[in-house]
Amino acid sequence: MDFELKSLSHQQAARLPVDALLVLVPDGADVSGTADAALVNLIREANRRGDLEPGVGKALSCYRPQDIKASWVVLVRSGDGSASAVRKAVLAGMALLKQPGVKKLGLLLSLLDQDALAVRVAIMACADATYCFTTTKPSAKARTISQVVLGVSDATAARTEFAAGKAQVTGVELAKEWANRPANHATPSMLADAARKLGRKPGIRTEVLGPKEVAALGMGAFIAVAQGSAEPLRFIVMHYSGAAKTSAPVVLVGKGITFDTGGISIKPAAEMDEMKFDMGGAASVLGTFAALAELQPAINVVGLIPSCENMPDGLAVKPGDVVTSMSGQTIEVLNTDAEGRLILCDALTYAARFKPRSVIDIATLTGACVIALGAVRSGLFSARNELAQALGQAGDQSLDLCWRMPLDDEYAEGLKSNFADMGNVAGRAGGAITAAKFLQKFTADLPWAHLDIAGTAWKSGTAKGATGRPVPLLLQYLINEAGVATKAPARAAKATVKAARQK
Ligand code: BES
Ligand code: MN
Ligand code: ZN
Repeated sequence: MDFELKSLSHQQAARLPVDALLVLVPDGADVSGTADAALVNLIREANRRGDLEPGVGKALSCYRPQDIKASWVVLVRSGDGSASAVRKAVLAGMALLKQPGVKKLGLLLSLLDQDALAVRVAIMACADATYCFTTTKPSAKARTISQVVLGVSDATAARTEFAAGKAQVTGVELAKEWANRPANHATPSMLADAARKLGRKPGIRTEVLGPKEVAALGMGAFIAVAQGSAEPLRFIVMHYSGAAKTSAPVVLVGKGITFDTGGISIKPAAEMDEMKFDMGGAASVLGTFAALAELQPAINVVGLIPSCENMPDGLAVKPGDVVTSMSGQTIEVLNTDAEGRLILCDALTYAARFKPRSVIDIATLTGACVIALGAVRSGLFSARNELAQALGQAGDQSLDLCWRMPLDDEYAEGLKSNFADMGNVAGRAGGAITAAKFLQKFTADLPWAHLDIAGTAWKSGTAKGATGRPVPLLLQYLINEAGVATKAPARAAKATVKAARQK
């Protein structure tokens, strides 16, 4: 899907040679014009007759309206013009316009007061509304809209939002593609190949470690999860270099379980297919790197993806087995279905070598997080207030919401073991938090945050499919961080010192 940004008045939009025109109508839009004002006349008439109902997302479809070049015009209410209202409006309009006859679409935002701010969210909503997974279903109706012309009052003023929006779409769509693929079309080796392919893009470099190298690193917890599968594990290391070598990177760690059967602690059959999405964290890291390659922000980022299957097998790790993690801490594997934390803990230990500015792991980690927060907000865990705030803000800005959860030390009580430094589970109560407490034991002095995306990475039911979350949040966080790094290096350095002192 190609996007184009243009300065367009409503008069110019009326003459735009497109198959269809989607017009966002904010509350209180100025529809006073008369001469050469086919679009505002249309809106005024629709208002006067009550044909365009009040309410965000309410739409009116018009065929061959007078003096408008596009043969199909959809007016859609966009309320106060806030990001969430714009998203709702565009999704509603696109649901109507998703027809084979519409190849080139005009999307008019210039009636909005703050149309530059609406650009990113409008682009994302366009892409979300028309996304279609075809890799293993060639008969599916692929996206037919190939070009979208965004009309704003001042294209120059909207340029950065436009670039960020396009990069975000690239990232979200790559994340969706990989997360949606069934496990036999997305093995650890295939994920590694996808990462290698991204490594050919500007600023990106990819390394892939296999079982031998991972064993040499001493990643006993990761290896324990992988040992029950015929598919060899992969540890993917990606670098995006957008700033000076001396600039500390942000490290993103994505859980890459390409299928989670639960292992010997096997899961029930119902909905087990959805455990193909258990590499949603990994997919979000791949997606974020694709977006970085496109946007080229001034920041360094490292992506780490421990990837394997979690299978029951004669060689599989058994409940009660004790394994030694890369950190040297021993772990009693009380439940082989709590495998995400086992692969992540070794990747978090590995992350320390980059002397990171921050480390964020992204994982479909616990069913308990789905119970706690549902599908609306991802769980955010961090002992660092500044980092938690930055991620919370990035989520708000990008409409990819998260919610901070507690990390009191009392939650770690249940992880005690008589046979190892810790167990890998701590009972049902507060399961999302105890999982985070487990990970925290491997983050020592790192400025670390954990995003539990078990409820947000995919949708179940008839709309089953990956969401591409939290690529928008991660990209926004990195853009914000890059702003800090380039515009005010002194302030960024001071903030780091302050954070170090607070520890
Ligand atoms: N991948 C699952 C978490 C999950 C479950 C995500 C359902 C989304 C929907 C994870 O590996 C897992 O199995 N976690 C266990 C942990 C438990 C054994 C402590 C869980 O949540 O049940
Ligand atoms: Mn599991
Ligand atoms: Zn899992």
